[in-house]
Amino acid sequence: MKDQNTVDRVKAAKKAFQSLYQNHAEVVAQSPGRAEIIGNHTDYNNGYALSAGISRYTYTCISRKTDGKIQVFSEGYSKKPEEFEIDNIQKGEHAHWLNYIKGVVYELNKRKPLAGANIYISSDVPSSGGVSSSAALELSVATALCGLFAIDVDPVNKARMCQSAENGSFVGIPCGFLDQASSGLAKKDTLLFLDFLPTDTMPVSKIDYIPFDFSKHGLSFIVMVDKEVKRNLGSSGYPARRKMCEDSISHLSKILGKEIRSLRDVSIYEFESSRVKLKNIDPVMRKRVEHVVYENQRVLDAVEALKQEAVEEFGKILTDSGKSALELYELDEKTPELTKLITKGREIDGVLGIRNMGGGFSAIGLALVCQDALESFQDELSYEYGSGLEYIPFELSQGAEVLTALSNS
Ligand code: GLA
Repeated sequence: MKDQNTVDRVKAAKKAFQSLYQNHAEVVAQSPGRAEIIGNHTDYNNGYALSAGISRYTYTCISRKTDGKIQVFSEGYSKKPEEFEIDNIQKGEHAHWLNYIKGVVYELNKRKPLAGANIYISSDVPSSGGVSSSAALELSVATALCGLFAIDVDPVNKARMCQSAENGSFVGIPCGFLDQASSGLAKKDTLLFLDFLPTDTMPVSKIDYIPFDFSKHGLSFIVMVDKEVKRNLGSSGYPARRKMCEDSISHLSKILGKEIRSLRDVSIYEFESSRVKLKNIDPVMRKRVEHVVYENQRVLDAVEALKQEAVEEFGKILTDSGKSALELYELDEKTPELTKLITKGREIDGVLGIRNMGGGFSAIGLALVCQDALESFQDELSYEYGSGLEYIPFELSQGAEVLTALSNS
């Protein structure tokens, strides 16, 4: 049974679809935004993360056609439907959102040629809210296309194709796998544990579901975002951070005298024994490596804390993650607002844990807050931070799926 918001949104989207395309949507799919609970910049280092789907979704209504073209209308962005040919996809200079869909169509069409489709998109995932509206869009469209054309791809590889869509030439953002994996694989009322060490056939070597009822402990998650602070993973320090981690591998291999595939292979003990040598080679590199090596351990510790129902400890680990991301990974480079957001938030009563979330170079945070302090937290943080903060409270929500009952109603 879907919540009323989903039922209402899908009903409205199907109606709009029908009046726009003069036929019925055959399939309706949804995919949520994601929250990075902990595991910051660990994905491209083959490490660990804990994430969740949030209770904001992108819905895709779709029907088949046979002219080799995709027509798309997005409620948030379009005045009229956009169209492109499946066998001749060109990156658009305008309609940036459409490039994500082109990337998804391009990837799926390689797997199974697509005949053509009418698409209508409706979403309540805030864009530039730091909850990966792009992954929600990619997974929602991919899930709808797979449902419509009976494309047989497992959820992990479907998410991987969506990451390729984002990394590829239509969008060109060098993100890791966290966002697409989370939006694609999340489950209701659970946290998603991901081990990003690829195998020969899979982009992850472990996926675990950790059911946890935070409300039983009187707690809620909330995302805080200053949308005025613009962010762009492609041109920001994200690729630079990524490259420095990769460059550190050959140095650490030499220092430790062993083969290292990624920072995932470096234990805390090994890092500590290399600290001085690494610092002498490059003091900034030492900081970046320290963040990733300890962050991996924090993810494992956070999982353990949940298993023990030790929510205060869990919150403390989240806060430590945030301190490390600011002090060692310097994700507030050029955006001092991020430091202000997190440090002001730390001081507010009722906050169990608070950290930055996602790529950084923005002002986006995640907090675990006592439910009875949720309102005062927002009031106080807005007062301390200054104007312009938006809040996204959320529940742990289901990942990408075809809404069979709502498709048929
Ligand atoms: C962004 C990227 C992810 C991940 C996070 C940081 O969200 O898209 O792949 O690297 O930043 O953890």
